Amino acid sequence: MGVGIDVGTGNIISARKGKTKDHLKRQRNAFIDVGKFADVKNNLTRTKIEYAQLGDEAYILGDNAYEYANIFGTAELKRPMESGLLNPKEKDAHNIIRAIIGNLLGAPSRKNEVCVYVVPSEPINVDHHVNYHENIIHAIIEQLGFTPIKIREAVALAYEGLADEGLTGICVSLGAGMSNVAIMYQGLTTLDFSVTRSGDYVDLHAHKETNTPIAQITSIKESPGFSLIKSYDDRESLAIQSYYRYIIKNIIVQISELFKISKNIPKFPKPVKMVCGGGTSMVEGFIDVVKDELNNVDFPINISDVILVEEPLYAIARGALSEAILEEEDRFPKKVTEKVPAFSTKEGIEKVANKHAADSIACEDIVIDPEKIKEAEKIVEKLKSSKDV
Ligand SMILES: Nc1ncnc2c1ncn2[C@@H]1O[C@H](COP(=O)(O)OP(=O)(O)OP(=O)(O)O)[C@@H](O)[C@H]1O
Ligand SMILES: [Mg+2]
Repeated sequence: MGVGIDVGTGNIISARKGKTKDHLKRQRNAFIDVGKFADVKNNLTRTKIEYAQLGDEAYILGDNAYEYANIFGTAELKRPMESGLLNPKEKDAHNIIRAIIGNLLGAPSRKNEVCVYVVPSEPINVDHHVNYHENIIHAIIEQLGFTPIKIREAVALAYEGLADEGLTGICVSLGAGMSNVAIMYQGLTTLDFSVTRSGDYVDLHAHKETNTPIAQITSIKESPGFSLIKSYDDRESLAIQSYYRYIIKNIIVQISELFKISKNIPKFPKPVKMVCGGGTSMVEGFIDVVKDELNNVDFPINISDVILVEEPLYAIARGALSEAILEEEDRFPKKVTEKVPAFSTKEGIEKVANKHAADSIACEDIVIDPEKIKEAEKIVEKLKSSKDV
């Protein structure tokens, strides 16, 4: 078995192998604090809103919180993570994340089932490290009865998007809080980093430029018809396009700069693919802008193509799942259930020989080793002749 979980600033997504297809579950990584449990219990029960009680407080979690906040404009939607990491401003962040992860994962399918969880690479533009965040997520998954194993976000994307390229190329995952990058060569990560500029950054700055509420900006940005390469004359659309271009340019410039100063960067013998994923890459025209910005710089790696991974929002969780399945196979190899052919052991050979039954064995379901047959025939002959005497 094995399970993958992508714990992101905007969404937490789990992936499990099903009989015919993968089971993917998503929850927004958000909550509303509705006050002291004792005070609101009756109201919550009457309105049939799903809630979680953590200590004395009552919370509405995940997509329910998002919908509730949209309906009741006064409710403040809070987020347990900010810029890719646990939000230091939310004292209950880890408890909220534990509740959401617990709901998504359910019970392990067996004791200590492997759960591969996604963490960001070290950010290069802020003085924050990923260790604390990593340790908390690790502990939560362990407490839920799983064996936790971490994977970097852009590497998980590589397992989905660069599998046909021998895991060689560039992966860029653009989420809500962060953009994660990995440069891979034959499965090895030669350079990886993150920058805290992605979907939330676009929303925040488009809001600052226009004074339009952030929720409205996000809604325009995510609406199906919106495109980075169409012409608009409203301020909101123009601001979104402008900040999108800025974050894309920023990533390309950062890769170029780090490439120049990093050691151990391979010389790619031929042009490589750049694969993009994460919710922020889903906007129409995204790949066109990446290609356009690559043409504007002296990029140090020859790029053969820029592609969008299949199911960009779920690809990272799927990549984590594929790693979990491999880890499970390593740790819990499948028991061999096939019948052991009689000729494969000395005891088996003697047993067969003693019964003088070598000729009557149903040969079609036995793996026949000619050497072993010769050995068996010799023993049969020996036994026969000893009885003849
Ligand atoms: N159709 C869409 N067009 C543009 N942006 C979108 C679309 N759908 C979702 N997004 C944006 O994608 C982001 C969420 O993506 P994702 O779930 O990959 O992030 P995350 O993994 O939670 O965050 P991170 O990896 O940064 O911690 C949000 O900023 C959201 O506004
Ligand atoms: Mg992500």
